[in-house]
Amino acid sequence: MVEQQMENLSVNDDDDVVDPWNVTGKSETGIDYDKLIKRFGSQKIDESLIQRFETVTGKRAHHFLRRGIFFSHRDFHNILSLYEKGEKFYLYTGRGPSSESMHIGHMIPFVFTKWLQDVFNVPLVIQLTDDEKVLWRDIKVEDARQMAFNNAKDIIAVGFDPKNTFIFNDLDFIGKCPEFYQNMIRIQKCVTFNQAKGIFGFGDSDVIGKVSFPAVEAAPSFSTSFPFIFGKKAVPCLVPCAIDQDPYFRMSRDVAARLKFPKPSLLHSTFLPALQGAQHKMSASDPNASIFLNDTVKQIKNKINKYAFSGGQATVEEHREKGGNTSVDISYKYLTFFLEDDDRLNEIKKQYESGELLTGELKKIAIETITPFVQAYQARRAAVTDDVLKQFFEIRPIEF
Ligand code: TRP
Repeated sequence: MVEQQMENLSVNDDDDVVDPWNVTGKSETGIDYDKLIKRFGSQKIDESLIQRFETVTGKRAHHFLRRGIFFSHRDFHNILSLYEKGEKFYLYTGRGPSSESMHIGHMIPFVFTKWLQDVFNVPLVIQLTDDEKVLWRDIKVEDARQMAFNNAKDIIAVGFDPKNTFIFNDLDFIGKCPEFYQNMIRIQKCVTFNQAKGIFGFGDSDVIGKVSFPAVEAAPSFSTSFPFIFGKKAVPCLVPCAIDQDPYFRMSRDVAARLKFPKPSLLHSTFLPALQGAQHKMSASDPNASIFLNDTVKQIKNKINKYAFSGGQATVEEHREKGGNTSVDISYKYLTFFLEDDDRLNEIKKQYESGELLTGELKKIAIETITPFVQAYQARRAAVTDDVLKQFFEIRPIEF
């Protein structure tokens, strides 16, 4: 299949909206991810790819892969081939910092990235795009930097190790690393305003910082942007990210070919739905739509009980008779993300769909699954001091 790159991706009125700034599905079952694969021109993560992963690594695939939570990729086969040959690659992911606390949906790409790093034992770079937030939101440079440092602590608490992980915020790092800026300029020279409009939908009244920003997010997918880690070597890159970031990497892959850098490979995730239903992703700006990483046990319980959209029937009798609908039920969807045990999950699905399990009971299982995840996270977060933070941000060689 020919990859659709520097051109506008035709969007119809009945298509889900998925771009770096907006994510909204048209159906109550959520976004049609298979349709997105077609529109974006990426590849589905299918059974044969998962099997190859297991053969090559000797590890069982993560439940995010087994359940289609990471559902799409670009050139992941290349990464597996490199690993097979004992050749090196690195991981790159990132986050646009925000003042609100991070929620459990933000954790998905990072939890998965940590797992990939453990499986492959490779370096990871994490970009905090504080510059992006200044350009897109009503936020001052000073405040965006501070948010980046706070968010970095939240990310570190996923379990990263400074031994093989470098974290940077654009507003501080780029000025200290000429090679990064040089790659930005190389990238900027490859993309016309017309192409940027096509990929990102920029308009005449957008500030010029927005138009040039994609080069900042693309640059870390090229190893020569980090000479203190990779020297001058062209080391291939794998980017785990949510599917809304794909436009940046379509562009990166296109310019890579022209700059004679390896094209970054990608693994794309779906979104954790909002409590109110699968049309929307969990969003930090709506406290009732999200379970935050600093929520108390009581808040988690109340939010799920009160807001988690139910696929159950209106009355117990009706529910016993018709059963619940797991394709719209948010508590069930959360279990697919957070309950690792496949047998237990299947059992729950069967029981709910047959009407044996009631909505209240399903919610209780969701609460009992998510609460320990958040508590374990909070314990790790409490251990992330300023000193720990500094270790990750230091410009230094990483064993590789
Ligand atoms: N733009 C992303 C956001 O707003 C942050 C980001 C930067 C990112 N580089 C990335 C996300 C690489 C995934 C992969 O969240």
